Amino acid sequence: MHILSIVGARPNFVKIAPLIREMTRRPAFTSTLVHTGQHYDAAMSERFFRDLEIHPPHFNLEVGSGAHAIQTAHVMERLDPILEEVRPDIVLVVGDVNSTLAASITAVKRAIPVAHVEAGLRSFDRSMPEEINRVLTDAVSDFLFVTEESGRDNLLREGVSPEKIHFVGNVMIDALESSRHRWQGSAIAQSLGLDPGAGYAVLTLHRPSNVDDPRTLANLLEPLQMLSRHIPIIFPVHPRVRQRLVQQGCRLGDAPQPLEGKAIAYVDPLGYLDFVALVSRARLVLTDSGGIQEEATILGVPCLTLRDNTERPVTITHGTHGAPPLWDGHAAERILDVLDDYRQGKGPASA
Ligand code: UD1
Repeated sequence: MHILSIVGARPNFVKIAPLIREMTRRPAFTSTLVHTGQHYDAAMSERFFRDLEIHPPHFNLEVGSGAHAIQTAHVMERLDPILEEVRPDIVLVVGDVNSTLAASITAVKRAIPVAHVEAGLRSFDRSMPEEINRVLTDAVSDFLFVTEESGRDNLLREGVSPEKIHFVGNVMIDALESSRHRWQGSAIAQSLGLDPGAGYAVLTLHRPSNVDDPRTLANLLEPLQMLSRHIPIIFPVHPRVRQRLVQQGCRLGDAPQPLEGKAIAYVDPLGYLDFVALVSRARLVLTDSGGIQEEATILGVPCLTLRDNTERPVTITHGTHGAPPLWDGHAAERILDVLDDYRQGKGPASA
């Protein structure tokens, strides 16, 4: 069975790593990896491939940045001939970024079954680009792999037939667990001049609703600057936010010393291993990222979600009180088991 997987943006790389590893382990599967090039900076892409031990993609569509419609259209235009050439049995997509949606539509138009990993999550906020991507991707998917119970409930409510829905757990946690010994060896706290004994917080912001409007961003930063007088805050800055922070008068690229509880340290985006290591030893995480909410849950680090809603309610209802069901590091195995059943004609012939 030939599976063609698509990745485009940073969180996709984390999710695909355990799936590729599992496909490689199983002789019945052939895997082709396509990178859309939605994220292209070394710090946002290459570094993640290295940290997560993912082989280089077979194809890179090099779509780069752009308006949503243009970015989505470029992925579709450039992926289509590859689907024609490779003729995969299944197209596998992860998460909720523009590349996820673009690949799903392209595949379904070629009558290739689509498997969506991380299906069913809903913020019920249609002003969020990812929510549109989630709803539309799920609508054309044949295999819907969900990470938490709310995903199944949402899909059933939308009329998806139950045999398409598979509650398998969270591949993001597979990645976290399988690389645990490597991120535990990271010296990032020392290289940032932090004293883990003294405590520090980690901050990330990149949602358009938080960072695109200067006034909203300023209103968010003000209380965070107050908080940083009590505990140093490390803020790895996503490229989307960089320019906007400079406009706000933030001094980016500063060496984080002296931190001593009196600063927000704006640092460059970190690699996967360093970032997880930094979070794992933090006293607190403040974030608008869905993936980091999930990682904090497993790492047992209190997380303040800087949003009005979340499509990942288990990170709030469960918080840090133990792992949510099936977040055990074996989600990729369960996903490949389902696809293997389908290969052998045992699964639902939904496609
Ligand atoms: C995208 C996803 C978001 C995900 C995030 C993770 C969509 C709609 N959004 O948001 O769900 O949480 O990735 O990071 O797909 N840029 C660079 N270098 C890069 C990538 C981006 O400089 O390697 C800059 C560009 O100026 C670009 C901007 O960041 O215009 C936004 O990038 P884009 O891919 O459109 O969305 P993200 O905000 O990264």
